Amino acid sequence: GRMIVTIDGVAASGKSSVASGVARALGIPYVSSGLLYRAATLLGQEAGLDLNMTAPLLACLREHPLRLEPLAAGNRVWLGQRDLTPDLHSSAVDRGVSVVAAQPGVRTWVDDQLRALTPPFVAEGRDMGTNVFPQAPAKFYLTASPRVRAERRSRERPEDVAAIEAALIQRDALDTTQSAPAPDARVIDTGPLTLEQVITVITQQLPA
Ligand code: CDP
Repeated sequence: GRMIVTIDGVAASGKSSVASGVARALGIPYVSSGLLYRAATLLGQEAGLDLNMTAPLLACLREHPLRLEPLAAGNRVWLGQRDLTPDLHSSAVDRGVSVVAAQPGVRTWVDDQLRALTPPFVAEGRDMGTNVFPQAPAKFYLTASPRVRAERRSRERPEDVAAIEAALIQRDALDTTQSAPAPDARVIDTGPLTLEQVITVITQQLPA
């Protein structure tokens, strides 16, 4: 059918891995909204723009259109023939992305691209269940303590756990506005669970 499953949550709560696993279990794609915010940030940084200024950033995005490829095995973002994906998870992008994502004009740019996609899919981010796909029949919200999240992310970043934890806490604070769980989302504390267990909890809750 035309099912949309939303998986939102705080930074490094495992959204992408969980969304990918749920999508593979269902045989449908998943969509990483955060990758578009990250790609907009990278583009602005490479162009030397002030990331606080919406108009030049949106002009840059119009001139250099980005394309999200929602593959089930892992989403990719393309700038023409260039695959930006390997550059989207740097600490520099981590540091800049919340300022970019706070701008309504940028959020509209992302939302329009997501709403143009054809279901079924699993959508992951911060506001998939609240703002972008409020009509979705199955919504989840992932949490875990900052320390657990920092330990997980330390396997993907060169910094030490304490520095990663501090950066995550700061990013959570900057992202608060768009990160409220939907009232009809099932909240899952992933702290005590393995990736496979989170995927199972979600797939068992899905409407038939
Ligand atoms: O995996 P992690 O949560 O660290 O990052 P992400 O999901 O790729 O999101 C990166 C950033 O994009 C977040 O810190 C938010 O500032 C922004 N974002 C957002 O505002 N709304 C979304 N739906 C997804 C991401």
